[in-house]
Amino acid sequence: MAKAELLREDGIGILRIDNPPVNAISPELVADLSRSFTEFEEDAGLTALVIECAGRTFVAGGDIAAFEDPEFSAAPYNSVLARIEACDRPVMASLFGTVLGGGLELAMACHFRIAASSTRLGLPEITLGLIPGSLGTQRLPRLVGLEIALDMISKGKPLSASGALAAGLVDMLDDEPGRAARSKAVELAVQGMAPRRTRALTPPDIDNADAVLAGARRAAEAKPWLPALSAVADCLEAAARKSFPDGEAVEKRAFHDLIGTTQSRAMRHLFFAERAAQKIPGLDRETKPRPVEKVGILGVGTMGGGIAMTFADAGFQVTLVETSSEALVRGQALIADAYKATQSRGLMSEEAVMARLGAMNGSTEMSDLGDCDIVVEAVFEDMELKLSVARQLGEICKPGAIIATNTSTLDVNRIAAATGRPGDVLGTHFFSPANIMKLLEIVRGADIEPDVLATVMLLARKIRKTAVVSGVCYGFIGNRMAEVYMRESEAMQVEGATPVQIDGIIENPKYLGMAMGPSRMLDMAGVDVGARTVIEWIKGGDGPQDPAYRAMCRNLYERGQHGQKTGHGYYRYECRNPVPSEETAELGRHLAREQGINRRDNIPDEEIFERLLFPMANEAAFILEEGIAYRPGDVDIVWTAGYGFPAWRGGPVFMADEIGLEKIVARLDYYAATLGNEHGYWTVSPLLRRLAEKGERLSDWRRET
Ligand code: COA
Repeated sequence: MAKAELLREDGIGILRIDNPPVNAISPELVADLSRSFTEFEEDAGLTALVIECAGRTFVAGGDIAAFEDPEFSAAPYNSVLARIEACDRPVMASLFGTVLGGGLELAMACHFRIAASSTRLGLPEITLGLIPGSLGTQRLPRLVGLEIALDMISKGKPLSASGALAAGLVDMLDDEPGRAARSKAVELAVQGMAPRRTRALTPPDIDNADAVLAGARRAAEAKPWLPALSAVADCLEAAARKSFPDGEAVEKRAFHDLIGTTQSRAMRHLFFAERAAQKIPGLDRETKPRPVEKVGILGVGTMGGGIAMTFADAGFQVTLVETSSEALVRGQALIADAYKATQSRGLMSEEAVMARLGAMNGSTEMSDLGDCDIVVEAVFEDMELKLSVARQLGEICKPGAIIATNTSTLDVNRIAAATGRPGDVLGTHFFSPANIMKLLEIVRGADIEPDVLATVMLLARKIRKTAVVSGVCYGFIGNRMAEVYMRESEAMQVEGATPVQIDGIIENPKYLGMAMGPSRMLDMAGVDVGARTVIEWIKGGDGPQDPAYRAMCRNLYERGQHGQKTGHGYYRYECRNPVPSEETAELGRHLAREQGINRRDNIPDEEIFERLLFPMANEAAFILEEGIAYRPGDVDIVWTAGYGFPAWRGGPVFMADEIGLEKIVARLDYYAATLGNEHGYWTVSPLLRRLAEKGERLSDWRRET
């Protein structure tokens, strides 16, 4: 079936695009568009043209999958757009849904744009490490000015329809854009108005070009690892200073250079990985989710409070339960303070805050959770406590209600069994602060009912979380990998490196560019929380039976250096700023003496980097082999959405592939030989070794079904 066709209605042409799910511009669609437009050109009886889309949205972009083709070229699409713009009969765009990327570029090539009031319009290519490649960088500034264009293109954030109207990007709002476009088309044709061609315009703020372009250069220099930003500056400069065809040449060259960069390939990998993560192998797409309206939260500490806010933000009724009225009042105050802070930063109106607080009821009776459709238990991370709570919830929750245990490491199968109804139970691992952080690990226990999994996947979407499903193991996907990362960070502190040095390497974009290095991260999350979890793990018999294992963390905990909350952890905090701690350095020296380790003054930067990243890639391979994660991309989503791993690196698996698995395996073997492998820390995953030998990538690996 044609993806675009020309219809004729009352003397005007309707060019209708129909390419589900989001009308993305694929090579086939371009061919159909070109053919249909030729038909219009050849039919002199048609006085105007309306371009519209079937389905849920106007064109939402270029087909990102097509970019993977080394032969990809934007030229055929660009030439259709040029023909549309050059047409001497009025061409109208009828806009609704998400008018993004190539979709907005099509709209800007038209002579008149009418949008439904719920439309969102933007050029999000930067989020894929790219710039618009179909003259978006040249037409947008001519319509909205250089300043707004810079903001839209360099941040990738869409405008609302009303914002677009104010900026001059659309000409009219109408909730029936198709009907309005038809009548406007007739009106313009009757008036015989000359078509308004975007390419002929001058950016309305051209007098301010020097300042805007200087800002664009500064933004690019601040992030040299994102070459798309300097391409944005080049293209806007061309839009301001050069002719349209010259600008076109600048954009074409920049787009071509960017498409093969690691950064863009990494970000495109994440785009598809995020969507793939929503598909659960073995879960029938038709599985009917259970209804969820009322949500219960048991335990209103930092985590429970954040989770409650997440649900209230998405419009759910929330029942908060704590064991004592003091704890409840404290928890409610934390929530109210967090909302007030958001309000005072102008990010939420007073009414919205009141509505959310009004959607929450507090109680000290667990039985009040009895009518909830889902209960998230967010009590302290202690197995005995979780088991006892699980037994009670199994009794209290109504039949069919879902019980979620929020945990970052614990055995969800044991907790599920304790409820007496394991089919209704799953693990959730929200990240702190839960109302802000995007990632939600969903832990599927062995006995989970398919409709429970289907329900929480849908729920995750409603509460705007990026969900990744993990199997049951210590730490699931994210914290299990974080464990080897922390292990090496701490081991190197005993061997002679400092937290400043280690964090500095890993935060340096030259090496990796993590938002926060391991010591700063643990200081923020709480050394006590980390240490207690590790201590329990080791005590339970599943953790490493190695007295040196994460000795820094465990000793800091015993010394009361619990991180930011006590003003001292790996670092000392002066007015919230981390400064090196002599006590921590001394602890490193002390542990080295105790463990008989010869300290080295200068652990090379390269070694620090390798010992942090390579074991993570190895652990990822184990996680995949064991079926804890379904796909390599799931691991990358966990790390980019939950741990501050930079998107332009694509996640630890993608980055390992870019370095080369052969090198990684060789270095793991080298560290096994030089540091010793008594505890199996350097044992290479058979999967990783096999792929390295075959010269394959872990990102491309698929489980055989
Ligand atoms: N190219 C190829 N496929 C695309 C696509 C694009 N530009 N945009 C969306 N899709 C696909 C998704 O992969 C998904 O496929 P699947 O169902 O097989 O997994 C499907 O369309 C639906 O997308 P999804 O993101 O799940 O739907 P949504 O309703 O939540 O969001 C959009 C819709 C359009 C807002 C969102 O998909 C998006 O932001 N797309 C990218 C837009 C973009 O960057 N355009 C510029 C490209 S240069």
